[in-house]
Amino acid sequence: MTQAQILSLGSVNVDFQVRADRWPEPGETLLGQDFLMIGGGKGANVAFLARRLGVNARLLARVGEDALAEEALRPLREIGVDLGATKRVAQERTGIALIIVRPEGDKGIILSANANTAWEPTDAEGVATEIQDAPPGSVLVADLEVPVSIVQRALETARQQGLRTVLDPSPAGCLLPALYSAVDYLTPNPTEAEQLTGIPVRSAADAFRAGEVLLERGVGAALMKLGAGGCVGVSAGGRERLPAVPVRVVDQTGAGDAFAGALAVALLEGQQVNEAARFAVAAATLAV
Ligand code: RIB
Repeated sequence: MTQAQILSLGSVNVDFQVRADRWPEPGETLLGQDFLMIGGGKGANVAFLARRLGVNARLLARVGEDALAEEALRPLREIGVDLGATKRVAQERTGIALIIVRPEGDKGIILSANANTAWEPTDAEGVATEIQDAPPGSVLVADLEVPVSIVQRALETARQQGLRTVLDPSPAGCLLPALYSAVDYLTPNPTEAEQLTGIPVRSAADAFRAGEVLLERGVGAALMKLGAGGCVGVSAGGRERLPAVPVRVVDQTGAGDAFAGALAVALLEGQQVNEAARFAVAAATLAV
């Protein structure tokens, strides 16, 4: 039988990253350093990580027909991500992310989603077929940097097929209420948890309260990523706080994707949710 795989539905970008001492003021030209141009995008990062962890990964995504597409896809191809469901869209540009990282390692991102939003309404059918054809035990991971109608169809089909689903609710403003009940594991960061629930998340206690709200809305479990604070998990089975090992944060970019990808891999390997979340915290800690 074909091995279970990670199906990663989400963005593929090229990240243009610089380090700077602070955010620029309006109208200011600020000097940065350590410029990096690197393949990114949440869906791509999750698929890449799954391969790094030795699991099959298929990326459901859209890139443009431009030179940046190759920049974004090369590392994925090299590590063995299955790109059979990653399509190039004529007359579109590949998504790009402009990222500033401050000395304390936190980041700000401006995303130009470009081809990531160039899915046709009829593509929903293709995504549904992809999921129906996935080997049993596969796990769907999605983010919201692609059209929410496509994500909704994917989550609902996965639910019907008995596949587990992980949703990174980023950007949180794109989440539709109808999605909650099709999500097994929702993984917001504090900003996203606040946007979704209205509860400012500044402590583990706040995160538990926000998690309860998300649980009431229908998710199987809310796993709130608290950065240096580890993770707070709320599910019907209980509440748990998973601390992170203290580290010096160099760059937070992609830590949430490392969390989602590692969580999905651990679930695919049969770990229980609290063990899978512990593994995800460790992966995110290494990522930063
Ligand atoms: O989560 C990090 C990712 O978000 C970056 O790689 C960037 O491309 C954006 O999608």
